[in-house]
Amino acid sequence: MTTRELGFRHRFEPGTQGGPPVTLVLLHGTGGTEDDLIGLGRELLPGAALLSPRGNVLEQGMPRFFRRLAEGVFDQQDLALRTQELSRFVEAARETYRLQDNLTIAVGYSNGANIAASVLLTVPGIFQGAVLFRPMVPFVPSAPPDLQGVAILLAAGERDPIVETGNTDLLQSIFDSAGADVSLYRHPGGHELGHDDLLAARRWMAGRVASRSQMAG
Ligand code: MLT
Repeated sequence: MTTRELGFRHRFEPGTQGGPPVTLVLLHGTGGTEDDLIGLGRELLPGAALLSPRGNVLEQGMPRFFRRLAEGVFDQQDLALRTQELSRFVEAARETYRLQDNLTIAVGYSNGANIAASVLLTVPGIFQGAVLFRPMVPFVPSAPPDLQGVAILLAAGERDPIVETGNTDLLQSIFDSAGADVSLYRHPGGHELGHDDLLAARRWMAGRVASRSQMAG
């Protein structure tokens, strides 16, 4: 189902009956749409509910989740506003689609990973986990938020021309110091996703769901 309600044009697919109690919030890269990551979400965790917004910012006609001044240089004021906007959307969707009992896990690629990282650092509690494909440090927080109990997979490209290795290392250390359970996967290629990224994320996701079921049982 595609709708323009709740402040974002978005697609929602309910989870299947008996499926994992998880909502994947799918966040596309620059120039993407709400349709881009639906297939990835289905493959990452079959049966999970899928919530996929389209970024509200347009850069030369390309949807994004926040404005940038140049490649990798973010408009921090807009980022702060858009971070709140996305957080409100996820909260509202949780109620509207009755997802309150689900774990909410962000799955973001590139610009989508960057807004997810910003939400994690600004509004802890929105996401209980995140798979961030090719993320960058959105900003360095003045004090680390409390991300105890939040699991994060960073999937970085070893030859990514957009994200330097040092930037991934900094992001990892920021999440580490916030108490998150951080895993790092290094894809041997660049900014584009490979099949290996999908396999690494599937493994990570299966581990999250298994540990959640153990806790619940
Ligand atoms: C961003 O602007 O979020 C990053 O540069 C990644 C991208 O190109 O979307």
